[in-house]
Amino acid sequence: MSSEENRLEHIAIIMDGNGRWAKKRGLPRTLGHRKGAEVVKEICKAAEKAGIKYLTLYAFSTENWKRSEDEVASLMDLLRQYLKSDFQELHERGVRIRFIGERQMLPADIVENMVKLEDQTAANDKMTLCIALSYGSRQEIVHAARRLALLAKRGDINVDDIDKKLFSDMLYTKDIPDPDILIRTSGEQRISNYLLWQLAYTEFFFTDALWPDFNEKQLLEIIDSYKSRERRYGKIKAE
Ligand code: IPE
Ligand code: IPE
Ligand code: MG
Repeated sequence: MSSEENRLEHIAIIMDGNGRWAKKRGLPRTLGHRKGAEVVKEICKAAEKAGIKYLTLYAFSTENWKRSEDEVASLMDLLRQYLKSDFQELHERGVRIRFIGERQMLPADIVENMVKLEDQTAANDKMTLCIALSYGSRQEIVHAARRLALLAKRGDINVDDIDKKLFSDMLYTKDIPDPDILIRTSGEQRISNYLLWQLAYTEFFFTDALWPDFNEKQLLEIIDSYKSRERRYGKIKAE
């Protein structure tokens, strides 16, 4: 047990299992995604209520583009609906919305609405909801390396200026603290190209619940269990 309560400001989630949830019920995968989107709303509210300052949700990976055309199209449609209505509700509650990922791969109308929403909510400070969309962590790291190389080539920085802080500033998550908790639903125990740099000292929680079955109670149980974990960061516990 830790002697003092662990800091908790950022929870990152890999929302997995929508397809299996639908399959179990003999429904098309799309309906699993639809139910999953409902759960996003519930979990955002629960996180706000719990005083979480940053919630980062993995909604669509760069690898998810390899899924069938139908599935990708229905996920994009769901996103369009969300951008129009549900995100507005979050804005009214004072939530700031940010998107991380490879924007150039997304349909132009969606990107346009993402940018609008980011601008509209920029001054909100109740909580930051960060949506990882068309996101891949290795791509993010390569992108950061390219930006640094360009700055060095132009003479704007020296190679010796490149440190952990500057590198972090080149990532999509600039100014967002590293996650304290990572949750993955659906029983899979892997990272799937999510926040590789940012998760260096994050506490991991895996649950068998499929994302559409995940709820506030389970989130609070994880938070509770996190509080008693001992975060050592490579050091030895003080006696
Ligand atoms: C997560 O659910 C949502 C996305 C990846 C878009 P899945 O669609 O991966 O569901 P499973 O893993 O096939 O059950
Ligand atoms: C990770 O889930 C991506 C999202 C939840 C958006 P996947 O279902 O795509 O991951 P793998 O393929 O099981 O690793
Ligand atoms: Mg999956």
